[in-house]
Amino acid sequence: ARSDALPRDLEGRHVAISAGGTREALDPVRYLGNRSSGRQGYALARVAAQRGARVTLVAAHTADLAPPAGVDLVRVGDARELREAMQVAAETADVVVMAAAVADFRPVARNEHKIKKTDRDPDPVVLTRNPDILAGLVAGRRPGQVIVGFAAETGDAETGVLDHGRAKLARKGCDWLVVNAVGDGQAFEVEDNAGWLLSVDGSETPIPHGSKAHLASVLWDAIAR
Ligand code: CTP
Ligand code: CA
Repeated sequence: ARSDALPRDLEGRHVAISAGGTREALDPVRYLGNRSSGRQGYALARVAAQRGARVTLVAAHTADLAPPAGVDLVRVGDARELREAMQVAAETADVVVMAAAVADFRPVARNEHKIKKTDRDPDPVVLTRNPDILAGLVAGRRPGQVIVGFAAETGDAETGVLDHGRAKLARKGCDWLVVNAVGDGQAFEVEDNAGWLLSVDGSETPIPHGSKAHLASVLWDAIAR
């Protein structure tokens, strides 16, 4: 869609969006990371700006993406930096969207120097939990602030992708949860996305297979309503 064809229904609103995958350092050159490209978060930011919002985009590691026009871009590395940047942005944001893939765990210790190879097996990497940023944002929510989470789920024999999504929405306490099915070349490192938009009021909107910009439009339509 041409941006001049989009509604300006986010005019006067501030939205804060996280994107990409955090990298948790093991030493100065190595990290634990994930395959998030940041494309969905960037599409959300681009479309929100086109619809008139002031946008803060907090980006962890991403593919080589062009910064969306008219967006304040804040670069972060690991989960704790991302939390800090999102907490600052959330102080004035009307809408907060956690599209980033946050590492659930980080190495307990970051080696000051590059870990050296020796003639014996290495020590195991010991991990500790990262803060749940979304949960923290929900706990500190300003009155009227809308909070959106993302969930990439794989179904298993007992529980489908949608069931996992419903349980996660209830657990997280956010207003909306975008649920994507992952695995088999879906969602990660690809241009397209499909899934469901779940609302705390119980409504469940299927999001048909389409571009990440289309998914962004579906979400902003729902929030603007
Ligand atoms: N999230 C977060 N902080 C974390 C982990 C996740 O803010 N430490 C956010 C993600 O950005 C996403 C939502 O929480 O918006 C759901 O992330 P997900 O990984 O699906 O949920 P988890 O609670 O980590 O559960 P699990 O990975 O076990 O499915
Ligand atoms: Ca997780």
